Amino acid sequence: MRVMHGLARLLFAIELCCLPLSGQTKVAARPPMGWNSWNHFAGHVTEADVRSAADWLVSTGMRDAGYVYVNVDDTWEGKRDARGVLHTNEKFPDMKALGNYIHLKGLKFGIYSSPGAKTCAGYEGSLGHEAQDAKLYAEWGVDYLKYDLCSFQDNMKKAEAEHPDDPNAAKNLMIAAYRKMGEALKATGRPMVYSLCQYGVDQPWKWGPELGANMWRTTDDIDDSYGRMIAIGFSQAGLAKYAGPGHWNDPDMLEIGNGKMTQNEYKTHMSLWVLLAAPLLAGNDLTKMTEADKNILMNKEAIAIDQDALGRQGDRLYQSGDLDVWTKPLSGGRVAVGLFNRSWSMRDVSVDLKEIGFKNGATVRDVWKQTDLGRRSGVVTSRIPTHGVTLLVVSQ
Ligand code: GLA
Repeated sequence: MRVMHGLARLLFAIELCCLPLSGQTKVAARPPMGWNSWNHFAGHVTEADVRSAADWLVSTGMRDAGYVYVNVDDTWEGKRDARGVLHTNEKFPDMKALGNYIHLKGLKFGIYSSPGAKTCAGYEGSLGHEAQDAKLYAEWGVDYLKYDLCSFQDNMKKAEAEHPDDPNAAKNLMIAAYRKMGEALKATGRPMVYSLCQYGVDQPWKWGPELGANMWRTTDDIDDSYGRMIAIGFSQAGLAKYAGPGHWNDPDMLEIGNGKMTQNEYKTHMSLWVLLAAPLLAGNDLTKMTEADKNILMNKEAIAIDQDALGRQGDRLYQSGDLDVWTKPLSGGRVAVGLFNRSWSMRDVSVDLKEIGFKNGATVRDVWKQTDLGRRSGVVTSRIPTHGVTLLVVSQ
């Protein structure tokens, strides 16, 4: 008994001494990967769904492929008590136990809130309770916070009306709100990924890193349609220079496996997101994954492009009508190339290896076909079906 008591104290001391220390290791050194409840479950998500998602991340091999964050999105929140402490609603009876469950599976725990009084789904936000909420998350063992602007836009409109001469009144108020939570998270001493969700308003890539943000949404919400997905994906041109280890552009979560796009369209989705060094947050029902969905979400070579050690985001090389070529520099002098066909017919899409730094030819690998195309020089052309993609890794 006495030995156990001593051991427990020792473990406690280690926790006290070393948790803040581990905060010095870089958070989100690579684009965060995991699963988020919103795209499939939206407001219906329950603790049981999240536990099940954790189970399935392990049994499908998703965890071992890199998808480690289990993120509870909006609608977990209950009411505040007289001391202002936020409680969960009946769908989430015990957040600390949920966090433990997730951690015991070798996964990480993510949560959601808003700088406004209310979240987007009308639940309790963190306005005026930032430090208190951050402390609560740390107590629950949270590793990731998505902080969603939502009703704070009302506060911004008010600031605009009150300061008609100041064009930055709303923007400054928003930045201050995001800074406040950034500082509150830091003050807990627990490393947490800080994910800004404000739909790209006022170019968060320019001010996010300075607030301690590890990622920021660059656009409004995605949905499970090819039109919306490509509108977001291809609008990311020009943002590459703002991304790097610890701070990433976030074109929103993945829809792969939710059923409304074709396999070629989902391959386009995954290819674009990995070329963009985007956070990869699966948004599907993991209990119902087809082999085709698994092959897309867990293609090791595609994931390696996203997670590459260089930490560079890719960008558009050129566009001609419905055809697009994007490249992403990789470690070891390699380059990932995405050849995209957005048209309604089969088309040839080409890249000139000389244009991407391989004057004397290169070795080319087709990521989706999992085949080596051998030594090539000059122009490489691929015949691509409607809404399809060829994803290549080119090396010396
Ligand atoms: C916003 C966000 C979504 C999701 C919902 C939840 O729309 O952009 O990703 O978090 O709120 O209400």
